[in-house]
Amino acid sequence: MSEFLDDIFNKISSGKSIFKNREVLNIDYIPKRILFREDQIKKIGETLSPIIKGAKPSNLLLYGKTGTGKTMVARYVINKLNDYIKDQNTIFVYLNCRIDGTLYRVLSEIGEYIGLKIPFTGLSLSEVEKRIFNHLVDKGIKLVLVLDEIDFLVNNPAKRDIGNDVLYDFTRYDSIYNKSGSNSFITIVGISNDLKFMEYLEGRVQSSLRSEEILFPPYTVEEIKEILKDRVKEAFVENSVNDEIINLIAAYSGSEHGDARRAVDLLRVSGELAEREGRDKIYEKDVQEALKNIEKDKVQEAISSLPIHEKAVIFSIATFPNGETTGHVYLKYQEICNQLGLQPLTQRRISAIINELDMLGLVTAPIINRGRHGRSKKVQLTVDKNQIVGTLKNDEIFKLLFNSI
Ligand SMILES: Nc1ncnc2c1ncn2[C@@H]1O[C@H](COP(=O)(O)OP(=O)(O)O)[C@@H](O)[C@H]1O
Ligand SMILES: [Mg+2]
Repeated sequence: MSEFLDDIFNKISSGKSIFKNREVLNIDYIPKRILFREDQIKKIGETLSPIIKGAKPSNLLLYGKTGTGKTMVARYVINKLNDYIKDQNTIFVYLNCRIDGTLYRVLSEIGEYIGLKIPFTGLSLSEVEKRIFNHLVDKGIKLVLVLDEIDFLVNNPAKRDIGNDVLYDFTRYDSIYNKSGSNSFITIVGISNDLKFMEYLEGRVQSSLRSEEILFPPYTVEEIKEILKDRVKEAFVENSVNDEIINLIAAYSGSEHGDARRAVDLLRVSGELAEREGRDKIYEKDVQEALKNIEKDKVQEAISSLPIHEKAVIFSIATFPNGETTGHVYLKYQEICNQLGLQPLTQRRISAIINELDMLGLVTAPIINRGRHGRSKKVQLTVDKNQIVGTLKNDEIFKLLFNSI
């Protein structure tokens, strides 16, 4: 057993690492050279530049698919701009609404940045807001608030109204609180991966947030190659990643959606796999393997973030290896709900959930003709059943089901 470990450790310690600077492959690393985003950088810089003179910039919305450089560009411009700010009361706040998770967390995080302690719980949202706004006025703070993945404040139907209310209050801050002649204001820079999110915004919030919009288009395969080449130079020892490997990674990340994040992730994981083998080069098989790992992670992430009834539905589907009709899936789902102590939803709702799972690419549900029994959908998993089970085993509620079997 210990020989086995020695083997792993020896390979690493004797093999020269192919990484020169690993940090360059971290997701939040801002590269030395940002390619293909000059227009966006310029426009954001111009829009925000009045802040240097203490004047209020207009609100701004950055949008485009995942991996198009929005987060990186926003952070780059803000860092740069900060060098020109001498006024202590001008504050830049960068938050990720998905990672913060709740509106309360987002607000208390804003509070923290501006020097205000908000208790973990116990206050109403409107009370937290009031404290923030009063503090901003008192101190005459000029706030540029970057809300990354802003769609997470309004994409859940149950929380959409309150999300809209809070955003509305922030956009109205200037006209309500600035009356006292204080120079305080709030500029919002929203960032979204999801274009549908506009539909979730009320008209009054939309018109205010969208006063300036900047689109981040997907990268072409050629552009991804250039981005990768720069990153390879910074991250790897010379000659460890050749052009064929770069082309392969670019093809895997560019052809579908021009996603630079996927490209950088693939590069990092491929490098780690080669390193683990004590090799001084990345091989094609490393990239293939990396691709598999990343897909697996994605599926796991998708499943673990599903609400509980969606989880119960996908688990029911997973119990039929050869696919089943919606009706049988529903019966199974009811059974699972009983075991978990959940109140089952209606069959109609389950059909809607199956459609959602289909859109997420986790199941297929083509309509089949069942002769005199009419038409039905045949529902089948498109991912490995073990992945579903493996992920659900870590779920707080589902755990109980597996423990009882
Ligand atoms: N134009 C670019 N030049 C260099 N690296 C880039 C570029 N665009 C994106 N990246 C890299 O791709 C990854 C994803 O970018 P990110 O800004 O997080 O995308 P988004 O926020 O649009 O999802 C990051 O590691 C980033 O450094
Ligand atoms: Mg981002």
